[in-house]
Amino acid sequence: MSVYRNTVWFVKGLREYTKGGYEAAAKHFAAEDLQVDVTGRSYMITGANSGIGKATALAIAKKGGTIHLVCRNKHRAEEAQKEIIAGSGNQSVSVHLLDMSNPKEVWEFAEKFKTENRLHVLVNNAGCMVNNRELTEDGIEKNFATNVLGTYILTKALLPALEKEEDARVVTVSSGGMLVQKLNVGDLQFEKGTFDGTMAYAQNKRQQVTLTEQWAKSYPKVHFSAMHPGWADTPAVRLSMPDFYEKMKNRLRTEEQGADTVVWLAVSPAATKHASGLFFQDRKPVSTHLPLASTQSSAADDEKLLQLLQDMSQKWTTDSCKG
Ligand SMILES: NC(=O)c1ccc[n+]([C@@H]2O[C@H](COP(=O)([O-])OP(=O)(O)OC[C@H]3O[C@@H](n4cnc5c(N)ncnc54)[C@H](OP(=O)(O)O)[C@@H]3O)[C@@H](O)[C@H]2O)c1
Repeated sequence: MSVYRNTVWFVKGLREYTKGGYEAAAKHFAAEDLQVDVTGRSYMITGANSGIGKATALAIAKKGGTIHLVCRNKHRAEEAQKEIIAGSGNQSVSVHLLDMSNPKEVWEFAEKFKTENRLHVLVNNAGCMVNNRELTEDGIEKNFATNVLGTYILTKALLPALEKEEDARVVTVSSGGMLVQKLNVGDLQFEKGTFDGTMAYAQNKRQQVTLTEQWAKSYPKVHFSAMHPGWADTPAVRLSMPDFYEKMKNRLRTEEQGADTVVWLAVSPAATKHASGLFFQDRKPVSTHLPLASTQSSAADDEKLLQLLQDMSQKWTTDSCKG
């Protein structure tokens, strides 16, 4: 089955996820969708110092939004801040230092942030593909800690702030790579079998899609979406997938092309005409499963993912809550 899924996915990717795929899709974009002024609205973008996150922050800064860059490296974050201010003329761009793989830090950051700031839109963009099984200082597998647990805790902690606002949104940058994985709630940290970083990443991205669907049901005041940016030329692709990068480098999207649907989901009135909880590619909701791939999970497993994350995060969130 995995050979079938990977082959169908790759052929689909060559057609849709490349620069050519973007250019074909863009012929049908409505230019007025992005002609919006978002002055007065506040946007948090994680992993905003490079790639899709930085391109998203710049595009929204140009539209007048207040931008919160959430990054783990001070130097890289401040360089991005300077570039975004210079490129947009918007001074309302601030830096927050946070390692998304540290659950206690994530919780404490979000608890403090919401006492000091308003938030209209959260863009969960930070992500990684670590190719060996490595643990964080809390003993959590690194891909899962960053892509799923950190995203879960940040979103959960910021939801009360988002729910206070008009037209609040959460956009999660997932990946089309998730199409090759069925949700697996039995081994969230990849303790069983041989570790495969690409498949761990794809499983994390599937989990983000499931979270988005579940959140949409539980929080009707907020519009949730997950998305695939296509294959874009970013540091993550160059570093984590060098063979793929070598083969595909002339066909990859630019960072701005990868960010296009993130920006559209974050700012456009056209995006929230679609139901909450969907998965998007090139400004359109698309299926979360490949044909005949048997990747559908049961409702019980979908709910179990949320329960497991809630149980796991208690350890860090209640402690810091009391403090
Ligand atoms: N590019 C593609 O083709 C593609 C395809 C599908 C999905 N995506 C998704 O797009 C998102 C953005 O990736 P990208 O391609 O734009 O790559 P990128 O430029 O390398 O961006 C990844 C960002 O995440 C940050 N990050 C990673 N681990 C972090 C942590 N523990 N705490 C805080 N920040 C952390 C990175 O910070 P540092 O600079 O400090 O490492 C960087 O800012 C990711 O979620 C990725 O999975 C990308």
